[in-house]
Amino acid sequence: MVHLKKISHDNWMECLALDVHDWQKQFVNPNIFSLAEAYVHSDANREDAEKYYRCIPFAIYCNDKMVGFTLITYEKECDFDDTPGYEIYRLMIAKDYQGKGIGKETIKRIMEYIKTFPYGEAEYIYASWHPENKASERLCLGSGFEIVGKDADDGAIRARLSIRRIPER
Ligand SMILES: CC(C)(COP(=O)(O)OP(=O)(O)OC[C@H]1O[C@@H](n2cnc3c(N)ncnc32)[C@H](O)[C@@H]1OP(=O)(O)O)[C@@H](O)C(=O)NCCC(=O)NCCS
Repeated sequence: MVHLKKISHDNWMECLALDVHDWQKQFVNPNIFSLAEAYVHSDANREDAEKYYRCIPFAIYCNDKMVGFTLITYEKECDFDDTPGYEIYRLMIAKDYQGKGIGKETIKRIMEYIKTFPYGEAEYIYASWHPENKASERLCLGSGFEIVGKDADDGAIRARLSIRRIPER
């Protein structure tokens, strides 16, 4: 049973100890970097958060064991199409827990959370990955994301998934 828990006083240190395989370090920043970024773009620094993007950091648990970390962002004007959007900005499953379907379940939990529209309405969830990151590619395409282009700066593959709300009749 995979679930997300907000990073808090109780679990932030445990999150710093989670690590990926050495060969995967080119694909994802260390969690300590992500938590620093989340602080700068959090409600604690509202001006920066509103000007650039908001960060929502979560630990990923499988039953009661912390097995990963994700950073979700919300931007009023996404780089890709200048509309409001959420992004799975960072995602890592600790090396001993990879390849067991936890990444896939995590994407479902992230989608459930984003569909509560915690920072505002949006049409899409975005994700991006290094072109050689086959695990991310399979994970995202298998979860319904469609490729929409490449990042002009670093060549990352960009993808999105529609979360458009169907108006009630
Ligand atoms: C990418 C990552 C989050 C996937 O999490 P996971 O729990 O291992 O993924 P799952 O077990 O749910 O598998 C999801 C899909 O990826 C595939 N996959 C997993 N590891 C893979 C690998 N090393 N190479 C190729 N495909 C792989 C699985 O086969 C599955 O695809 P399928 O459903 O078509 O069979 C994890 O590998 C990770 O943390 N990698 C290092 C950090 C990283 O790259 N983060 C993403 C940055 S964009």
